[in-house]
Amino acid sequence: MEGRDPVIVVLISGSGSNLQALIEAVEKEEITGSIQAVISNKADAYGLERAEKAGIKTHVVDHKKYDSRDAFDGELIRQIEQHKPDLIVLAGFMRILTESFVRRYEGKMLNIHPSLLPKYQGLNTHQRALDAGDAEHGVTVHFVTAELDSGPNIIQAKVPTLKQDTAETLAKRIQQQEHIIYPIAVKWFIDGRLNMTDNDAMLDNEILPETGLILENPQTIH
Ligand code: GAR
Repeated sequence: MEGRDPVIVVLISGSGSNLQALIEAVEKEEITGSIQAVISNKADAYGLERAEKAGIKTHVVDHKKYDSRDAFDGELIRQIEQHKPDLIVLAGFMRILTESFVRRYEGKMLNIHPSLLPKYQGLNTHQRALDAGDAEHGVTVHFVTAELDSGPNIIQAKVPTLKQDTAETLAKRIQQQEHIIYPIAVKWFIDGRLNMTDNDAMLDNEILPETGLILENPQTIH
């Protein structure tokens, strides 16, 4: 990452509110990297508009146009490689990636998942936490490895559930935390403080706990 601003490529599928939080952290120079491209598997993802407004290059790789995961991932790689990224950020990217794609970017790809991993991998996490009567739920930023939603955790934010919560109200409170913790993790990576070694997430050369760092009330960028 020497001699130029570290390059970030963000993959999205939807609204892009996490992308927006990252764009703002870069604009405020809290993250000293440059988001060079946003790639979506959906042409109508609102996040593409957010990227364009911020002057970021966008690409659409529509998964429906490819007859295999390998073909889709191959095109994703082609688009990503044009930018020679130091970091790939999955921000609400809702496609399962092939093992060879994930291995190619191991140690330089982050994901945000709306649960306290390893609890509730996969979909419908908010409803599943409510159905189980969990007193708290949350969100995890982790390195991406070949097994879905299982790479080493970096940061978790916990959010208490409320009696009157629906999946929507809970998701909304959790998203507020997402927009705080994702820029923190990206900043750590870009500043060279965060890496993955032997399937452990390391911050400042110390192995992070299996939960990742737990932030109960994350407020500012660290
Ligand atoms: C976020 O809540 C993120 O946690 C979730 O998708 C949402 C995307 O929102 N990701 C996953 O479920 C990944 N398995 P956004 O497009 O507004 O950032």
